[in-house]
Amino acid sequence: MGAKKELRVGIVGYGMMGRAHAYAYRAAPLIRPSSVVFTPVVMSGRNAEAVAKASEDCGIETWVTDWRQLIERSDVDVVDVCTPPGTHSAIIEAAALAGKDVFCEKPLATNYVDARSALDAVLASGIRHAIGFNYRRLPAVSLMAEMVASGELGEIHLWRGTWLSDEFVDPDITFDWRFDSMMGGSTICDLGSHLIDMAAWMLGPVNEVSAMSSTFVRTRDDAGRSRNVEVDDASSALVRFSSGAQGTMEVARAAPRRPCDFTIEVNGSKGTVMFAYAQLNELWVGNTDDDVRLYGLRRVRTEHPSQPETTGWWPIGQGVGYDASLINQVADLAATWEQRAWSPDFSDGANVAAVCSAMERSVFDRRWVSVDEIVHETPGQ
Ligand SMILES: NC(=O)c1ccc[n+]([C@@H]2O[C@H](COP(=O)([O-])OP(=O)(O)OC[C@H]3O[C@@H](n4cnc5c(N)ncnc54)[C@H](O)[C@@H]3O)[C@@H](O)[C@H]2O)c1
Repeated sequence: MGAKKELRVGIVGYGMMGRAHAYAYRAAPLIRPSSVVFTPVVMSGRNAEAVAKASEDCGIETWVTDWRQLIERSDVDVVDVCTPPGTHSAIIEAAALAGKDVFCEKPLATNYVDARSALDAVLASGIRHAIGFNYRRLPAVSLMAEMVASGELGEIHLWRGTWLSDEFVDPDITFDWRFDSMMGGSTICDLGSHLIDMAAWMLGPVNEVSAMSSTFVRTRDDAGRSRNVEVDDASSALVRFSSGAQGTMEVARAAPRRPCDFTIEVNGSKGTVMFAYAQLNELWVGNTDDDVRLYGLRRVRTEHPSQPETTGWWPIGQGVGYDASLINQVADLAATWEQRAWSPDFSDGANVAAVCSAMERSVFDRRWVSVDEIVHETPGQ
């Protein structure tokens, strides 16, 4: 057996995604063994007691209370950013200066200016960079992208994405970083970034957008004082792609009893393919070449070994879950580390941030906004 290349990871943040990434690093080699292995060696967080507990739970030896200390450590090869979006660009820029590879959770930033500055920093230093658009790694979503790319759906005309959650329904949820626009970003940025990434991955760049937003719970309690909520509870957008295709996107954290329900549908001149996260091991597919007696959409299982992102997973019929997207993400980073071919990377993250910023400007100005308008006015362009 050849020697494995071990890359030592510092995880910044010990919340949901810090723990989820720690889990994925541990599980990935069990599902898809690779000559490159990621080993989390340190975790950072501002609260000593909490980060000590999280790192112990995750089996990570060391913890620090400042992400700058984590980046400076000589035993850290890869910095994994799992903190709120408003912190990402500063952490990325420091990691790039230190010459460490960076893997960052989505969205790259809360606005295009910060996203562009994070991208410029990694391009200047020549490090590897990847962004956590993990849903691309679900077998069904990956198969959908393959079907679009293969041309079997014909010329793509329409795209439809929705993401409904009840995260902000309860008015008694107190103010935290998610309600702060500079730290959490909008719902467009939080949920929409995943949808926009999957859309651009499949259909190519978004050209222009027209959006509207609402905030239904306008103030929340912040340690005994009332604070204005700075982000949208829900937004809808019309989207025009450079290819000429058109689409619609709806994102909401104000939809009771809808837990992280997302759907994507693509209609081409010859066929339709539809994905719903609640049935994440399936696609619904129909094609004008199908026997007309079978008119309609049929359910396709996306667990067959011939389908993408299924390598190493359970026998067909057992299905996979959310964690498979994270485990496949790590396995793909390991598989492409040597070739310096990490994808999606911060260019993808910055492109998505430009679309999000265009949607936010459209809401504010009540007009169609081209993505170029956002990109070209940013310093360094
Ligand atoms: N890809 C996915 O499926 C997915 C799911 C959820 C969240 N996310 C993304 O992951 C990131 C983290 O989200 P989460 O749900 O883990 O959040 P969380 O609130 O559970 O954890 C956030 C972590 O960041 C730390 N933190 C908070 N403010 C900070 C600051 N100002 N400076 C430094 N550290 C700070 C917190 O102490 C905590 O350790 C966000 O970018 C979010 O959009 C991705």
